[in-house]
Amino acid sequence: MKPDKDRKRYILILISIVTISWSIIMGSITTKAMANPIGTKSVDMVAERHRVGKEIYLENCSTCHIAIPPAVLPTETWKTILENPLNHYGTRLEGIIRFNQVLMWQYLSTYSRPISVNETEPKFIAQSRYFFALHPGVEVPSPVSHTSCVECHSRVSDFDFRTLTEEWQ
Ligand code: HEC
Ligand code: HEC
Repeated sequence: MKPDKDRKRYILILISIVTISWSIIMGSITTKAMANPIGTKSVDMVAERHRVGKEIYLENCSTCHIAIPPAVLPTETWKTILENPLNHYGTRLEGIIRFNQVLMWQYLSTYSRPISVNETEPKFIAQSRYFFALHPGVEVPSPVSHTSCVECHSRVSDFDFRTLTEEWQ
């Protein structure tokens, strides 16, 4: 009886050690993966399950131009962009792996709206009615482009489209 009891206790201790080490290891891995300075500074709340998708979006899509907020373009446009990385506005987006593509799609599709039936899919922000719907009564300089957002949105580099430059406050 006694050795059997000892054996059980030994196994229990072993299981706890394995469980604790596992959570420590996994904990440090996920903390590292999420330690993206742009993402953590960003003000827009996203559901927990889209946090990683947003981080990956910021990592992949803010190196050549600003990270464009999902709401200014319809869901279909985001789909086209994600599905055609090698044909990206005259350039090629290399190294976007399938797994990240899926996570970015989940984030972008959740925070954008689909276009109506028979509506043409805009390729540029300047053609998107959602961009104009977010700017009621705002005289945006023409042509609208990702390069001019910062004229009114002072914290674009932090993916913050709520903070406006002084003249708009
Ligand atoms: C290798 C550089 C590069 C990367 C990385 C990149 N883009 Fe682009 N993107 C461009 C260029 C170049 C243009 C065309 C810019 C222009 O017309 O001024 C563009 C334009 C755009 C536009 C249209 C902007 C407008 O003003 O209407 C969108 C939307 C866009 N990119 C989304 C993305 C997304 C989403 C990703 C990540 C999956 C991404 N980009 C990553 C280079 C890049
Ligand atoms: C001429 C100034 C101006 C320019 C340029 C401009 N915006 Fe805005 N934007 C505003 C103002 C003002 C608001 C607030 C509108 C309101 O709430 O009625 C706003 C609101 C927004 C919002 C909604 C923010 C929120 O969550 O409440 C988004 C997203 C946005 N802009 C994105 C963009 C993007 C992307 C660009 C560049 C393609 C851009 N804006 C260019 C002035 C501007």
